[in-house]
Amino acid sequence: MLAAYAARINADDPLSGLEIGQRPEPEERDGWTTVTVKAASLNHHDIWSLKGVGLPEDRLPMILGCDAAGLDPEGSEVIVHSVVSSPDWRGDETFDPRRSILSERHQGSFAEQVAVPTRNLVPKPKDLSFEEAACLPTAWLTAYRMLFTRGDVKPGSTILVQGAGGGVSTALIVLAHAAGIRTWVTSRDEAKRAKALELGADQAFEPSSRLPERVDAVLETVGAATWSHSLKSLKPGGTLIVSGATSGQDPPADLNRVFFLQLSVVGSTMGTRDELERLARLCAERAIKPTIDATYRLRDARDALARLNAGDVFGKLVLTG
Ligand SMILES: NC(=O)c1ccc[n+]([C@@H]2O[C@H](COP(=O)([O-])OP(=O)(O)OC[C@H]3O[C@@H](n4cnc5c(N)ncnc54)[C@H](OP(=O)(O)O)[C@@H]3O)[C@@H](O)[C@H]2O)c1
Repeated sequence: MLAAYAARINADDPLSGLEIGQRPEPEERDGWTTVTVKAASLNHHDIWSLKGVGLPEDRLPMILGCDAAGLDPEGSEVIVHSVVSSPDWRGDETFDPRRSILSERHQGSFAEQVAVPTRNLVPKPKDLSFEEAACLPTAWLTAYRMLFTRGDVKPGSTILVQGAGGGVSTALIVLAHAAGIRTWVTSRDEAKRAKALELGADQAFEPSSRLPERVDAVLETVGAATWSHSLKSLKPGGTLIVSGATSGQDPPADLNRVFFLQLSVVGSTMGTRDELERLARLCAERAIKPTIDATYRLRDARDALARLNAGDVFGKLVLTG
């Protein structure tokens, strides 16, 4: 089958390790189901994989892609939950120390077919297209858990989302707006700031701007470039929820500020199958559509990954057959 896969690791030139070509179809496995992929969305994770973050050489070749929506063998429309936990794990899958997400240990979704544990399949609402549904399992699920599970952000609160243009950030803006949360954003790019306002953000600022007032919570995926501003933007007792560090993972910790102002720093990663099911239902019932920047054919995955790597995206990039 056709697939886009990591054949080599290159931390400096990640796209040089990408191949688009034939890979074996998934083998039958007890308790697993093979899904015919109708759409798969890109995540920054795919760039990390090509750089060797979370993907050692000895697991290559590895089909990239964490997210998919497609058809199960009976023809039912499904969304693929990407977090694969140990067979005997019970409870929140994200806390399983042996969990992985598709394309780390198990072959990913940038292919005509992908195999996952059957319990990882979630019904796709009819109101979402395959392309829209394929945006949910990583970026949108991560945003949902950051806001509503790990962050426990209440309606009427004010939040700051750093780096408005990203897949996770655009999901945060739309979900927070839908939940009645006053949403402020930063972005490096004026056009992205304008688009964020169209999505439902209440105000948009240049990076490191002084805000009109301090906020209840900051939602971080940018990391080193925005971390100091995130801490400075919080009210006493406020919460910084972090799920990514695109620009670097070792900013100054600013510990004095953390303890004097009694700030909470909360990590968040992916989400559970049940959270994904609730998210899909929320999107269907409230006519929420993931922001898709562009759709590419699977055979053109290199162009899509190059755009993501260049940071020239607002929302999600999606691959279809
Ligand atoms: N823990 C998890 O489960 C989880 C899940 C999903 C994603 N993540 C991580 O979260 C991060 C974002 O993922 P994504 O898929 O949303 O990525 P993406 O679509 O590529 O978005 C990249 C984001 O980073 C911002 N950005 C990049 N470099 C920056 C810099 N030097 N200064 C300021 N902003 C910068 C961009 O903001 P502007 O261009 O608007 O300024 C944009 O919001 C990645 O590191 C990813 O690995 C983690």
